[in-house]
Amino acid sequence: MTSTLAPAVSTGMRLDLESVRISYGGTTVVHDIDLAVAAGEILVLVGKSGCGKSTLLRALAGLRLPTGGVIRADDDTVTGPSADRALVFQDDALLPWRTARANVELALRLRGVPRAERATRSGRWLDEVGLTGYADYLPRDLSGGMRQRVQLARSLAGSPRAVLMDEPFGALDSQTRTEMQRLLVDTWRAHPTTIVFVTHDLDEALLLGDRIAVLGAGSLRAVVEVPEPRTAVDRGELRDRILELL
Ligand SMILES: Nc1ncnc2c1ncn2[C@@H]1O[C@H](COP(=O)(O)OP(=O)(O)OP(=O)(O)O)[C@@H](O)[C@H]1O
Ligand SMILES: [Mg+2]
Repeated sequence: MTSTLAPAVSTGMRLDLESVRISYGGTTVVHDIDLAVAAGEILVLVGKSGCGKSTLLRALAGLRLPTGGVIRADDDTVTGPSADRALVFQDDALLPWRTARANVELALRLRGVPRAERATRSGRWLDEVGLTGYADYLPRDLSGGMRQRVQLARSLAGSPRAVLMDEPFGALDSQTRTEMQRLLVDTWRAHPTTIVFVTHDLDEALLLGDRIAVLGAGSLRAVVEVPEPRTAVDRGELRDRILELL
C-alpha cells in the first residue's frame, strides 16, 4: 500500500437509518429498522435469502427511497444516489467494451476529476488492487476475481465516503474469495471509509465486520459486536449466537 493515493479516499461517513420501512406495492419487506453505521466502520449485514438485505442496501445507496422513516448520510437526508456512496455488486457491473483502466476512469470522470489526473489515479488504483499490467485488458479477458478487483478499484477511485457491497465475492471460488477479503481489509486500512457489506457467509461476516447486523424477515434481530483481537474461540461463539438469531 502506498500513501501516494491520498486523498483518493476520504474518511467515512456516518449512516443512520431511523424507523426505515420499505414496501414493494402493498408488501412491506423492511420493517421499521433503526440502525446507525459509524463513520469508518465495516458493518456486515447477514440474513437468509429474501430477508431484505439488498433492499436495504439499495435504500442506503439512494436507489430506492424508504416508504417510511428516514436515512441520513452524516446530516443529510438521502434522497437519491450520490457518488459519495458507491455500490458494488456480486456480478461485476463493468462496461464490457471498456478496458479495466477506462472503467476506472469513467468513475473519476463522473466525479469531475480532470483528464490527466484520471489517468494517473486509475493506474495507481489498478496497481493497488494487484492488477499491474492488466490496465488495458477488456473485462472478458480477465478472471472473475480480477473483474471484482477492477470493480473495487473503480469504486474506491471515486473517493466515496461509504462503500455499499452486495455479496461482492459471492461468485468467487474460495481461494480467490479469501484473497479478495484480505485485499478489502488491507485497502480499507490504508484508505479508511465506511463499508456496509452484505453476505450470506458467516465466516466472511466474522472476518470482515466490526459489527454484524442480523436481519430476519425484514426486521433487525440483533447487532453483534466482533471483539478485537479475533480469537478462534470468540468467533466460534459468535458464529453460534448468530446462527441461533437467524
Ligand atoms: N423490485 C421488487 N419488487 C417486488 N418485490 C421485491 C423486489 N425486490 C425484492 N423484492 C422482495 O423483497 C424481499 C427482499 O428481497 P431482497 O432482494 O432485499 O432480499 P435479500 O436478503 O437480498 O435476498 P438474497 O440473499 O437472496 O439476495 C423478497 O421477498 C423479494 O421477493
Ligand atoms: Mg440480495
